[in-house]
Amino acid sequence: MLKIDTHAHVLPESWPDLATKYGDQRFAVIHQHEGHHRIYKDGKFFREIWPKTWDPQLRIAEYAAFGVQVQVLSTVPVLFSYWAKAHQALELHQHLNQHQAEVCRQFPRNYAALGTVPLQSPRLAIQEMERCVDQLGLQGVQIGSHVGDWNLDAPELFEFFQAAQDLDAAILIHPWDMMGGESMPKYWLPWLVGMPAEQSRAACSLIFGGVLERLPKLRICLAHGGGAFPLTIGRIEHGFHMRPDLVAVDNPRNPREYLSRLFFDSCVHDPQALRYLIEVVGADRVVLGTDYPFPLGEQKPGSGIDALALDQPVRCNLFHRNALRWLALPATRFALGDG
Ligand code: CO
Repeated sequence: MLKIDTHAHVLPESWPDLATKYGDQRFAVIHQHEGHHRIYKDGKFFREIWPKTWDPQLRIAEYAAFGVQVQVLSTVPVLFSYWAKAHQALELHQHLNQHQAEVCRQFPRNYAALGTVPLQSPRLAIQEMERCVDQLGLQGVQIGSHVGDWNLDAPELFEFFQAAQDLDAAILIHPWDMMGGESMPKYWLPWLVGMPAEQSRAACSLIFGGVLERLPKLRICLAHGGGAFPLTIGRIEHGFHMRPDLVAVDNPRNPREYLSRLFFDSCVHDPQALRYLIEVVGADRVVLGTDYPFPLGEQKPGSGIDALALDQPVRCNLFHRNALRWLALPATRFALGDG
């Protein structure tokens, strides 16, 4: 069966050192030393990466071992650089987008891709998104769960979402710059506690801000199963009913109605949580997503869905049909038919 992993990060083996070029240590840089590839940010070690982060053939072999044929590539959020001057971030983003396009050109049956854009300037972000889709042949863009002080309902960002809808571009929302990070220095809590909250912040902002209401054809997928959002939809809905004076100020529709408008990846690490997700958002809204190649990802791609022993039509939905609808791609683009 065709299996498409919608949440798979990629980086080039190296990228321009903007920290040195612009004298700003906040830019993530890559240092190669004695065979190690290490990312530094703010002058500190951030993460080591390995050949499977950049080598497309090695990746294909590795995920093929789990019966996955396609990855939808996206960059690593530490490179969003939304805090930077927009033209500097754009310089970095164009390098990353060019790399993704090259991988897709080389292996069109094994990769699709979502570019990255400097959302701190919606105007430049729209231009780069158009370049990604129209010139580079990418399927859309990955964006962060917020942009500096803007949540995704910020009026400044609306024209970007409108452009994505007009362009028929898919959007993946990925947590980053986790809320409360400063107050949670230990135990990897920004990843374990902050990330699920970031996804709920993004979903609630798009819903309550009326973005999804005003752009009914926008195709958005929330990584990490939408984080806390689907699991707390009852609370969110209750708040909407009990305090409309606080919640329903910009959009009068029940937030639950938008569950069937979004896509959610399957990367929740718990069969009961995945079963609940499928039940509450619908089997036509969940897509395989693994967070490859990182340690918090699903280490055996597809194993979470396999563990549920679902009927074949539902498995087809989760493994590829929903992803193809989100990406607006025909199954014939990839190695197998719509089996
Ligand atoms: Co990820």
